[in-house]
Amino acid sequence: MQVKKLADLAVSGKRVFIRADLNVPQDEAGNIVEDTRIRASLPSIKYCLDNGAAVMVTSHLGRPTEGECRAEDTLAPIAVRLGELLGKPVRLIRDWVDGGVDVKPGEVVLLENCRCNKGEKKDSEELARKMAALCDIYVNDAFGTAHRAEATTHGIARFAPVACAGMLMGAEIDALTKATENPARPLVAIVGGAKVSTKLTILKTLAEKVDQLIVGGGIANTFLLASGKRIGESLAEPELVKEAQAIMDLMKARGAEVPLPVDVVVADEVSALARANRIPVDEVGPHDRILDVGAKTSAKLTDIIAHAGTIVWNGPVGVFEHNQFAGGTKMMASAIAHSEAFCIAGGGDTLAAIAKFHIAQDVGYISTGGGAFLEFLEGKTLPAIEALEARFRD
Ligand code: 3PG
Ligand code: MG
Repeated sequence: MQVKKLADLAVSGKRVFIRADLNVPQDEAGNIVEDTRIRASLPSIKYCLDNGAAVMVTSHLGRPTEGECRAEDTLAPIAVRLGELLGKPVRLIRDWVDGGVDVKPGEVVLLENCRCNKGEKKDSEELARKMAALCDIYVNDAFGTAHRAEATTHGIARFAPVACAGMLMGAEIDALTKATENPARPLVAIVGGAKVSTKLTILKTLAEKVDQLIVGGGIANTFLLASGKRIGESLAEPELVKEAQAIMDLMKARGAEVPLPVDVVVADEVSALARANRIPVDEVGPHDRILDVGAKTSAKLTDIIAHAGTIVWNGPVGVFEHNQFAGGTKMMASAIAHSEAFCIAGGGDTLAAIAKFHIAQDVGYISTGGGAFLEFLEGKTLPAIEALEARFRD
């Protein structure tokens, strides 16, 4: 993947427009709950500031209606946090597309939620040209939004005088490439989560590449159904049993495997007070719900992880939010932390598990992408990266 990189450019005295992904979770009052994406965006911003550029940063937040900017759409809380992290105040600029942007070398301003501008989501050429005219250098550092072809992630890259990847974008591309092109073997993928349907493409793609495909959560339940097990009232998608079977057959034909749970933790409801029972998978009753893997399964997964060369992790294996169903995910997290393998992790639930079990220091690379992370692993061309590659070839 060849793209121009910010670190290779002289930015002194230049007007730099950085598209970041500062789309962070907030509580009902608008307080930032988790600021990883803001912290991850600092290196590019600091590089530009330290080298005397006039810096404009923008991002989307949520999915607002274009042409409106409601109270919940504003980047104001993000401007405050960014200012705290940079140690200098960050001005928030509204109506920046037509109003122009007043910013001096050595200064950084935040441009209000780019998805409030009409034409952003449809990648309007008119909007992209106006934004490109604001800068000398366009930097895309929004890996989390790289799977969207929008005016700030795609169109602007065609019209800005220079278009390059920021430091976060560069690091994400490098880490994902390391995990997908000639990875150290065995290559183990962990795909957890509620539904096979939302992850079918990634499961199919991984089934052709990985040595072991660990499935978790509702996804594992559908695979258990496919292998003829009874799963009681567990979350599953019976209509996708054939797809699950096909994935297992494909893996088997390649000499690879989908290790299914041999024991599980069940309860009759998903709640903090639910009573958990540990049973062999063959003893799941008609009213049981499978909410975690059992100790024998955890030991097996731990062993697979301990011998892995590369690990790709997206999704937990149990309802780890509740401690009585957290054991499997916790064991897995600990195995990953102790493993010599290069591990790349991504997705909201995975990041929450990494935080809960305090293993961030021990994971090779934590991606800021959710959808973008999965689409990259699926081998799809991400429009934002493609736009930078096109400019590199010019
Ligand atoms: C994300 O949170 O996954 C990214 O910021 C992209 O947001 P979107 O799904 O609203 O495009
Ligand atoms: Mg989202």
